[in-house]
Amino acid sequence: MKKAEEEYSFLKACQRQPTDYTPIWLMRQAGRYLREYRALRKKYSFLEMCKNPELAAEVTLQPINRFKLDAAIIFSDILIPLGPMGVKFEFAKGEGPVFHHPLRDRKEVEKLRMIEPEEDVSFLMKSIQIVRAELENQIPLIGFCGAPFTLASYIIEGGHSKNYILTKGMMYQNRSTWDVLMEKMSEVLIRYLNAQIKAGVQAVQVFDSWVGCLSPQDYKEFVLPYSKKVINGIRKKVPLIHFATSSSTLLGLMKQAGGDVIGVDWRVDIGEAWARLGYDVAIQGNLDPVVLLGPVNLIKKEVKEILHRIGGRRGHIFNLGHGILPNTPVDHVAVLIDMVHEFSSKVRPERR
Ligand code: CP3
Repeated sequence: MKKAEEEYSFLKACQRQPTDYTPIWLMRQAGRYLREYRALRKKYSFLEMCKNPELAAEVTLQPINRFKLDAAIIFSDILIPLGPMGVKFEFAKGEGPVFHHPLRDRKEVEKLRMIEPEEDVSFLMKSIQIVRAELENQIPLIGFCGAPFTLASYIIEGGHSKNYILTKGMMYQNRSTWDVLMEKMSEVLIRYLNAQIKAGVQAVQVFDSWVGCLSPQDYKEFVLPYSKKVINGIRKKVPLIHFATSSSTLLGLMKQAGGDVIGVDWRVDIGEAWARLGYDVAIQGNLDPVVLLGPVNLIKKEVKEILHRIGGRRGHIFNLGHGILPNTPVDHVAVLIDMVHEFSSKVRPERR
């Protein structure tokens, strides 16, 4: 059934308008927990799938064909814009991303290229167009990027990190190089998000997955100006979700950096987090992905708990606190979505 854009419960919730039920989508909703995804992955590498518009579109739609999700998210990765910037990486089996030549000094930072998304990542624009056509306006499509800090940490550390010693090292000991890197990264991400919006995404999420390793003072000084710049750089107004994990102490500052919706993980009480943020911003979250492994009674209890903490207030998007785990049973996902829709629709309408 075709819908006018203003009828989508997901977009309405982003704008804190009343909805008949709480909309839900799941971070990494296309991925290894789906049999059909694993079948394709036998034939193609992860990056091959990201860079092939037909395959990326097919994978984006896999969870949509199975579940009553309220939004789709384009299949890609936060690392995709780094390739055309001149940073080489690969996904090593079982290890996540590996960068063979991590960036450590000023000269290397200066060599980073600005990207022209329409040329350099044309496959992404094409997959967005295919998905929009296939969705026939049933649900909206979300685009995304990594935040400047999280992407900088990957290219400085050379992969995922425990203590972010090298990233913080650049911040503390080499401030001007850090600023050049973050400035370049911000400009690239502004172009990257604007190109996705132009290609047709109807909302965007900025993933600052690893920024929780910073103190509030460091976030304010070294990160906030750049995240803010990216968020303010969006030309056509679409709702923006600003997400981080382990960000309890950073929430107020993340709000200052911007976003219509703040995404929180399971380490916070979502009701308390929202009260602290203020109700002039929407909130997304925050089921622990491990809860989704079951049993079903636990999922039910936790869904009720989250909805209770939200208390029927307008402007909540249900999601996990981080990406769905590969060993998640598919029927639990279906049950979760039904529960969120059913329980939330019973909340007294005047409170919605
Ligand atoms: O949400 C979605 O369904 C859209 C697709 C999406 C992927 N990655 C697909 C993916 C999104 C939004 C991302 C974001 C992303 N990528 C983040 C931010 C979110 C988060 O999890 O914190 C980060 C940090 C990355 C970088 C990344 N990509 C890592 C660390 C890994 C390896 C870890 C892992 O889960 O394997 C990836 C690979 C990746 N990105 C996979 C998928 C489906 C698995 C690839 C595979 O082996 O098939």
